[in-house]
Amino acid sequence: MSADVVVHTEFSKHKLLESDLAADPFAQFQCWLDDVQAANVSDWQAMSLATATRDGRPSVRIVYLRGWDERGFLFYTNHDSRKGDELADNPQAAAALYWKELERQVRIEGAVVLANDAESDAYFAGRPRESCIGAWASSQSQPLVDRATLERLTAEFDEKFAGGAIPRPPNWGGFRIIPENVEFWQGGVARLHDRLIYRRQTDNSWRIERLFP
Ligand SMILES: Cc1cc2nc3c(=O)[nH]c(=O)nc-3n(C[C@H](O)[C@H](O)[C@H](O)COP(=O)(O)O)c2cc1C
Repeated sequence: MSADVVVHTEFSKHKLLESDLAADPFAQFQCWLDDVQAANVSDWQAMSLATATRDGRPSVRIVYLRGWDERGFLFYTNHDSRKGDELADNPQAAAALYWKELERQVRIEGAVVLANDAESDAYFAGRPRESCIGAWASSQSQPLVDRATLERLTAEFDEKFAGGAIPRPPNWGGFRIIPENVEFWQGGVARLHDRLIYRRQTDNSWRIERLFP
């Protein structure tokens, strides 16, 4: 890349001070989500999700963040996908969200557990029909011989479930990241970014620490 196309983003919108922070990362996350909604941030639920094999080889992809509360951060996927296999072997993940319009990043790290069946069922039932068909038709992350095969499988499941409710595939559902650390990053002028990280303590309280940018 030549120097004339290098873009240097200058951050300028906000500062993040200890006095601004909520006592726990979930309340703080909700605070920033209120700002996300007010600022009409596009695709704000898109979240990088890193998993790793048992021997520590990482992989990363985008998933949608579909829920959060004091239990953790929830996403939905195929449990037999690559990420699902990696989580079965090594139930730890890291995730990051970036909201450009607000010059903010959130980083989440922790152990991962399966969501319970009732919440996965409820979420699946609320998805558009074609997404439900897709969950049945796609053996996510497995080799696919050609596109026509996927189209054929989609048509077959469409017919199979014609006129009725579509049950949740047994290998599809939620995973919840139970955070150990949640970092709130606010871009700052002249690279003086604010980084405040909540670290879970053994008694489940949170210790907040500022990091050099
Ligand atoms: C904006 C965006 C949102 C996505 N959301 C999801 C999601 O919520 N769940 C999912 O399984 N895949 C989602 N994907 C597809 C994943 O990035 C990925 O291709 C797929 O999950 C297979 O990943 P794996 O082979 O590492 O398991 C999304 C992709 C994009 C670009």
